[in-house]
Amino acid sequence: MLRAVKGVILAGGTGSRLHPLTRITNKHLLPIYDRPMINYCIEAVVGAGITEIMVVTGGTHAGEFLRLLGNGHEYGIDRLSYGYQERPGGIAEALGLAERFVGDDPVLVMLADNVVERSIRPMVDAFRSDPHGARILLTPVEEDAHLRHLGVPVFGEDGRITAIVEKPEHPPSHFGVTGIYCYDAGVFGVIPTLETSGRGELEITDVNNHYIAEGLMGYDVLEGFWGDAGESIDAYYVVNDFVRLHGVNRAGADRVEDDCTDLTGADRAG
Ligand code: G1P
Repeated sequence: MLRAVKGVILAGGTGSRLHPLTRITNKHLLPIYDRPMINYCIEAVVGAGITEIMVVTGGTHAGEFLRLLGNGHEYGIDRLSYGYQERPGGIAEALGLAERFVGDDPVLVMLADNVVERSIRPMVDAFRSDPHGARILLTPVEEDAHLRHLGVPVFGEDGRITAIVEKPEHPPSHFGVTGIYCYDAGVFGVIPTLETSGRGELEITDVNNHYIAEGLMGYDVLEGFWGDAGESIDAYYVVNDFVRLHGVNRAGADRVEDDCTDLTGADRAG
């Protein structure tokens, strides 16, 4: 029987790149077209067949998430938990708060400012059928200026990822690491070993590099639009415009079966 995958949605941080908008609310509650930003992420996670979800947030507006999402049933969530991050200590630290919620199960982690056009279900199904190590979702990115804001993978000759460089000055490839990650429960053993980065955070890229070093990292490439609405005010409007014009989370699982391309043909390592 396939293991249930739990979902952890990360909606904390200071949102400093969207100041002053984020002085008065949490970034993930800002509107994208006709809904708060986090709603698109919830829809994507539920659309991947995940119905046990923890939302980790922080700061002074945390109560608004409860007001928006309630018990989650309206959105197709069976069990909705909330976690509270006392200080913005990074994505990996926020994930660590979900340890007891996740238990021994595999987990899909999604940053609540990431918006996807197509279903992420193929990636989650691939991990569900072999829930060991980690699996990340990449997106093709042309512009070096954009890649400098992201995690960027380095590929070996066999097509496997040999490292991820966070916000590289000289991007080593034309793929960005999206904020959509699958991990086995071993991730909670990795997080306490991390060191604080230059920006004072526990970096999810360091978690991913740990799995890469262990030979336990797989990946898929997402087709269709991907946006990080929290990256900058311009990115926020690019995402808004895309959603308003085209809609997102549109494709059903059937239509997108081909959309996650396995670049290597044998992307599972280890
Ligand atoms: C984070 C990750 C980065 C990833 C990005 C995707 O960046 O650190 O690797 O590419 O999310 O949204 P941050 O938003 O914390 O700058």
